[in-house]
Amino acid sequence: MNKTGRNDLCPCGSGKKYKNCCMIKDQALKQNQTKRYYRQNIILKTPEEIEGIRKAGRLVVETLDLVESKIRPGITTDYINNIVHEHTIKNNAIPAPLNYKGFPKSVCTSVNSVICHGIPGSYILKDGDIVNVDITSILNGYYADASKTFFVGTPSKQAAKIVSVAKECLKRGLLMVKPGNTLGDIGWAIQSFAESNGCSVVRDFVGHGVGLEFHEPPQVAHTGRRGHGLPLVENMVFTIEPMINLGRASLRILEDGWTAVTIDGSLSAQFEQTIVVTKNGYESLTPFPLE
Ligand code: MF3
Ligand code: CO
Ligand code: CO
Repeated sequence: MNKTGRNDLCPCGSGKKYKNCCMIKDQALKQNQTKRYYRQNIILKTPEEIEGIRKAGRLVVETLDLVESKIRPGITTDYINNIVHEHTIKNNAIPAPLNYKGFPKSVCTSVNSVICHGIPGSYILKDGDIVNVDITSILNGYYADASKTFFVGTPSKQAAKIVSVAKECLKRGLLMVKPGNTLGDIGWAIQSFAESNGCSVVRDFVGHGVGLEFHEPPQVAHTGRRGHGLPLVENMVFTIEPMINLGRASLRILEDGWTAVTIDGSLSAQFEQTIVVTKNGYESLTPFPLE
C-alpha cells in the first residue's frame, strides 16, 4: 500500500524526498511488525511487556504463598477465594477469572478428583484433601497465570504420589524449553514421565500463550512427540500446566458448566507456571520452587 519510492516526496508532507525523511523510520517500524508476530498469530513479547508480565507474576506467586499459609482443615474454598480477591485488589490488580466467560469467582479451587476450574464455595477442606489453587492476575494490563496443588493436613499415600508426579511433570516440561526445541518436546517430557509412573495426562485442557490476554495462541499440549510441533523462539510467553490423574485421563464437566472431574473419581493434581523463552532456555515469570 505505502509504495512511496525513495526519490518521491515524503508522504508526511515535509516537502523533502522520502529517502531523506521518513523512509528509515518506516522501515524500522515494518521490521518491528514482522518480528512481533511468529506463526499462528503468536505475539512475541517486547522487553517492556515481559517486565509487565514479570510484575504480575510476582503478585501471583505472593498470593499463592499467602494462600498456602492459610491452608488447613476446616476452611472453605470460598475463604481461599476471599484471600485471593482481597490481596489482588489491594495490589491494584484484577482477578482475571472473575466474570471470565461467565466464571463466577476470582480463583479456581480444584479439590481431589476435580481436575481444574473448580468454583469456590461452601465446601469445607478436610484432613487428607488436596486442593489446586489457580491464580491469574491482571496488573497494569499484563496477565500472569500460575497454580499449585496443596496438601490439607496429612496426605494419603495416593495424594502424595499424584502431587509429586504432577510437580515433576511441570519441572520436566520446563527443562525442555529453549529456542529450537518444539512444543512436542514439552508434551513428550511430561507424558513419558507421567505414564511411566502409571498416571495419565489430561488432553482436554492445555497450556497457552499469555501476557496481553488470558488465553493467547499457541496451545501447549501436555502430551506429544519428540521433535514434533512448533519450534520455540525467544520471547514467546506461555504457560505449562499439566493436569495429571491417578486413574484414567477422561473427564466430565459438572452441571455448573465449569467443574472438570475425573471420570473414574481418581485424584488429579496440577502445577502451572508462566514462562518466557530466553536465548539459552527459559525464565519463569511466576517462579516458585519445584523441589
Ligand atoms: N487459570 C486457568 C488456566 O490456567 C483458566 C481458568 S479460566 C476460569 O488457564 F474462568 F475458570 F477462571
Ligand atoms: Co493457564
Ligand atoms: Co491457570
